Amino acid sequence: MTFADEVNIGSHDVFVNSVPHDRFARLRREAPVYLHPQSEIDQPADGYWVISRHADVVKANRQWENFSSGLKGAIMVEDRPDLEMARMIIDLDPPEQTRLRTLVSRGFTPKVIRSMEGHYREVTRTIVAEAVAKDSFDFVTEIAAELPLVAIAELLGLPIEDRHKVFTWSNTMIGNSDPEYAGTPDMAQAAMGELYMYANELAAARKIEPRQDIITVLLSAEGDQQLSEHEFDLFVLLLAVAGNETTRNALAHGLNAFLQFPDQWAKAKSDPGKYLDGAIEEILRFATPVMQFRRTATHDIEMHGVTIKEGDAVMLNYMAANYDETVFENPLEFDITRSPNPHVAFGGGGPHHCLGVSLARLEMRILFEELLVQVDHFEQVAPAERLRSNFINGIKHLQVRAIPVA
Ligand code: HEM
Repeated sequence: MTFADEVNIGSHDVFVNSVPHDRFARLRREAPVYLHPQSEIDQPADGYWVISRHADVVKANRQWENFSSGLKGAIMVEDRPDLEMARMIIDLDPPEQTRLRTLVSRGFTPKVIRSMEGHYREVTRTIVAEAVAKDSFDFVTEIAAELPLVAIAELLGLPIEDRHKVFTWSNTMIGNSDPEYAGTPDMAQAAMGELYMYANELAAARKIEPRQDIITVLLSAEGDQQLSEHEFDLFVLLLAVAGNETTRNALAHGLNAFLQFPDQWAKAKSDPGKYLDGAIEEILRFATPVMQFRRTATHDIEMHGVTIKEGDAVMLNYMAANYDETVFENPLEFDITRSPNPHVAFGGGGPHHCLGVSLARLEMRILFEELLVQVDHFEQVAPAERLRSNFINGIKHLQVRAIPVA
């Protein structure tokens, strides 16, 4: 085997059984800025630079003038024909990105997020109680997938019964490397089109009949504060994907981690008030639901003795950074008391730092609070089934039995 085979982290197949942490460790140690050859047909033909050390990922994230999201978008593929007509906020550089971000941030204020908490907690309590009452159940489809959909439906004011449409569209768009979602690039494109149309209809309905939701806020601004219809539709599209898969996988990996490390479950249970905030951050680090994003070098850049050439594709590898042993002691241990925990699961700062951090943390906190109250402990019934993807660290199914609190 060549070095390239031994450290291949570009192929989707490599992620089917587990995250290849040994390969990331080797890259951090031996080739922190590594020219990875193309390993999937849609990746850049000339390969891409993998940045794997924590400090470098953080630096590159902040230096957006050097590492552009706008030139070729934020997804690691060669061609993005959609960029011409469908450039989302993650595929823009400042100042265009700043303008959009300022506009849409109004829908994500702490006040908006707090206002969702009560209803969200109620829904979570019911969903957990129904699942826990069964002999065994799939934690992913019955709990982890449901809650982010409820949250997005709530945030956008979507009819609640439409949330499963959003689930299917976003699975098809993002899981197109996995046979279970049977996506071809054409199907992904079609799902994107349907979701786009759906957003468009929603916007039209809100203009006629305004409501107290983020859609109305975003559409009712004046002048250059206003989102165009197209920008709005793209934003709904992004939210449906960004707020859905990511949080679902954070929740699923959270439970999976507690199953693998039962002492940590016992600790969290002994005093949720004391341990839960730390547990959420450790779940985010451990899970790293989005493993990487793409940037493109705006000019020649020297790093660790190699030259990234202008126009080269660069992969910021958040997964590798979150297991960097120079920052996180015993990174393979799930330790809810880890402190400090400067993980980069939401990006390493910089202009694109996740807009949904408060919402994601709220969803995670409410679910795990509820689980700790209702469940004594979980038993794993079948091994976790992973998503075939080098991009999303996904769990598709996790069959468990919940032993309720006596
Ligand atoms: C655990 C859950 C989540 C994780 C791990 C996550 C991760 C990320 C990451 C890594 C980025 C940076 C993109 C880049 O580097 O180019 C990002 C951006 C973004 N996220 Fe999240 N996210 C999560 C939940 C959410 C939620 C719930 C929402 C909204 C409902 C959301 C909305 C966004 C948006 C709009 C951006 C783009 C921001 C910009 O380009 O300015 N995310 N997210």
